[in-house]
Amino acid sequence: MVLIQNFKIGGVIVNFQEIDLLKADLNPFKMVGKDWCLITAGNEQGFNTMTASWGGFGVMWNKNVVTIVIRPQRKTLEFIDESGYFTLSFFEEKHRETLKFCGSHSGRDVDKVEVCGLTPFFLDGTTTFEQASKVIVCKKLFAQKIDPKSFIEKSLLSNYPNEDYHIAFVGEIIKAVEVI
Ligand SMILES: Cc1cc2nc3c(=O)[nH]c(=O)nc-3n(C[C@H](O)[C@H](O)[C@H](O)COP(=O)(O)O)c2cc1C
Repeated sequence: MVLIQNFKIGGVIVNFQEIDLLKADLNPFKMVGKDWCLITAGNEQGFNTMTASWGGFGVMWNKNVVTIVIRPQRKTLEFIDESGYFTLSFFEEKHRETLKFCGSHSGRDVDKVEVCGLTPFFLDGTTTFEQASKVIVCKKLFAQKIDPKSFIEKSLLSNYPNEDYHIAFVGEIIKAVEVI
């Protein structure tokens, strides 16, 4: 295990170490679907974050990847479009209110980081937060807008009453770290 970083949160030094993806207990059904995460893109010059509960991890094109889906109206999409990298940040249950807030307010209207008391942490040209317990850093590989004509199961179109079809992104996992 490689020690990535020591830094202080509230006076306590926190160590992040790399996660061995082949050995780690990373359950996307729980981590994404139940616990949720923050998708963040941008850097010191500007970034945005939003909550996500759809997506997954796996292997594609012989690379370890995540898949995320972002609706066109999200401010975070602007930062993902402009960035080569993005992060998925996972939190302990005590941060649930932060995830609810970041999933119900747009960065267009409010400074979510300030309201939630999040501390940005910049790495690999992208952004996560010191409060995260696990972070996956991703390099954008692929983006495609969901085409309504591609749905075989047509009932799923009910997810899009406003025809705001997600843009799907596949990102290569270039680093995964956890607090120890
Ligand atoms: C639990 C939860 C999961 C969400 N998952 C997604 C998602 O996967 N994709 C998406 O586009 N929006 C999702 N949202 C909605 C965005 O997080 C929300 O619209 C947010 O305010 C967008 O912020 P932004 O405009 O600053 O990017 C989710 C919201 C919640 C509460």
